[in-house]
Amino acid sequence: MTRIQRLIAAALIACRAAVGIPTIEVKGSKFFTSDGDQFYVKGIVYQSANSSTNYLTNGAQCKIDAKLIAATGANVIRVYSIDPTLSLDECMQAFADENIYVICDMSTPTYMIDKNDPKWTLNLRNQFAKVLDGLHQYDNLFALFAGNEVIVEPNTTVAAPAVKAVIADMKAYRDLMQYRKIPIGYSATDTRTSTSLQDYLDCGNDTIAADFFGLNSYAWCGDSSFVESGYSQLYDRAEGYDIPIFLSETGCNVIEPRDFADQNALLGRQMNDRYSGSIIYEWNNDTTGYGIVNYPNSVATGTPTLLPEYTSLQSRWSTLSPVGVKATAYSPSLAKRDCPKSTTSVWSVQVKDGTVLPTLGLSGFTAPTGSQTTRKTGGATSGTTAGSSPDNTSGGGSKALGPGAIAGIVIGAVALLLAIVLIALRLRRRKKNKAKEVVVNQGEDAPFKGELDGNGVSRNVPQQGAYQEMQAAKDTQEIGTAQAQYELRGEERPGELYEQQHQAVHDTSNFHEPQYPEQPQPAVEPSPHVQAQRRREMEWLEAEETRMRQQRERLMQQGSQNVG
Ligand SMILES: *[C@@H]1O[C@H](CO)[C@@H](O)[C@H](O)[C@H]1NC(C)=O
Ligand SMILES: *[C@@H]1O[C@H](CO)[C@@H](O)[C@H](O)[C@H]1NC(C)=O
Ligand SMILES: *[C@@H]1O[C@H](CO)[C@@H](O)[C@H](O)[C@H]1NC(C)=O
Ligand SMILES: *[C@@H]1O[C@H](CO)[C@@H](O)[C@H](O)[C@H]1NC(C)=O
Repeated sequence: MTRIQRLIAAALIACRAAVGIPTIEVKGSKFFTSDGDQFYVKGIVYQSANSSTNYLTNGAQCKIDAKLIAATGANVIRVYSIDPTLSLDECMQAFADENIYVICDMSTPTYMIDKNDPKWTLNLRNQFAKVLDGLHQYDNLFALFAGNEVIVEPNTTVAAPAVKAVIADMKAYRDLMQYRKIPIGYSATDTRTSTSLQDYLDCGNDTIAADFFGLNSYAWCGDSSFVESGYSQLYDRAEGYDIPIFLSETGCNVIEPRDFADQNALLGRQMNDRYSGSIIYEWNNDTTGYGIVNYPNSVATGTPTLLPEYTSLQSRWSTLSPVGVKATAYSPSLAKRDCPKSTTSVWSVQVKDGTVLPTLGLSGFTAPTGSQTTRKTGGATSGTTAGSSPDNTSGGGSKALGPGAIAGIVIGAVALLLAIVLIALRLRRRKKNKAKEVVVNQGEDAPFKGELDGNGVSRNVPQQGAYQEMQAAKDTQEIGTAQAQYELRGEERPGELYEQQHQAVHDTSNFHEPQYPEQPQPAVEPSPHVQAQRRREMEWLEAEETRMRQQRERLMQQGSQNVG
């Protein structure tokens, strides 16, 4: 590359950083875009049958898939692992181009906390750090999971301190490297036996607590309801929770065809004040039979056929666009949970103090040197800003004006120009938003009709087109006095009002210790993804065993021939 090319490339990167997709942040119990809008997850698990680590490496395929995934209304994909040594640039860009964020597990089938022998080792820590290094630069990286279904009550709760140590150490690493505050959380099995795990991951201070809690729940099958499915329990358990909570996998397929009716509850008035959406399991049918498309081949390439479930999900989501609150109008004062007490039947974490963790600290890592004013995005960059690798800090500060310095000046100039334009745009938008906010609140309230279902619980009845109508009604003069009062008493948002209504109908006097005498408890079994993974591991082990046996037999034959 010539110097000029390098300069142009650097300027382009700076431009993309300034106009790219907004990042996602955590504030209280909600996600927000860096533009200040609340973010609800409409996600789909994205994996192909034949790979376990090299997801997001086939750029051409990602372009095909990203368009089709975006057309469902999705804004998030979940992948279970990536290989940070491979380039993800093209795929991450393909999804960013469709306004789709990526949530990823830091573990891989090789590097993970083993639930039966939980150990957080330096080797594991360094591998997880590499995943962070490989993904942090993408603005459409939504969040990271420290583990998926590692802890299953009651018999693998011993793994919980290791999982929380992952969270604590990786948050510390993220901050040491001056990466943005990428949310780091956990994806849990829905055992519904207690809130111990949820409380455990949240307790203590912000340096060790999870940034969010994801739950894998397949409890709502077919034409179920808020109460029948047990979602009401999930909702109750999120009361006053101080970090975002969402379903990191959902999509029961016991009753077919699947119609994703649970989305009405999750994204509608019934739950959207405490839940931040969900991720549907999954995209490709071939893997597990839960998919919504079929590829023409087993390696999941080419243009897939859309199954009826694809259309079903698409039409479901098209009616559900919760607006939520603006970050600026939201000042949470929520407390962290107390650490759960150890009980042999449910929560067998032995340490007395739930904040004592087997953390490893940051030994061996070094903070980046020099200024970090330019953040990488999208792709097309080589090398890392990470100061962790010693070969990165090659001296070279002696020359008068190296290419780096010139690039810095150019980037600085471009950034300054962009900043001025952005500020101007933002000021204009803020003016517009001021006028729009009242309308938004009204829109939020509108789709809920407060009907009662057979169980005496408010059932969400989405009225198609309600949002569109409200958003079209730009004229603030149309708003009646009731709504105007909302706007004046800023702290009483419609979400909170709904919460009160909800409690009034749904609650008894004893809200903090809800009793569910006749609730069907879901069987405590791993999610279809984990089961499929286990199946693959078994198959691999069997193949290995066969290979070993054959080799042994061959050696024995050779041995006997030699003797004979
Ligand atoms: C947990 O229970 C399951 C099934 O009951 C069993 O297969 C597994 O080995 C147990 N794990 C531990 C760590 O005891
Ligand atoms: C957070 O809690 C941990 C564990 O109890 C403690 O070591 C650390 O000093 C605390 N940090 C802050 C900022 O309070
Ligand atoms: C989806 O996958 C399952 C399991 O492999 C299979 O039984 C089913 O026929 C597939 N559905 C379609 C429409 O291909
Ligand atoms: C996965 O790919 C390998 C070759 O890379 C092939 O042998 C195998 O059949 C494929 N498995 C599936 C399920 O497509």
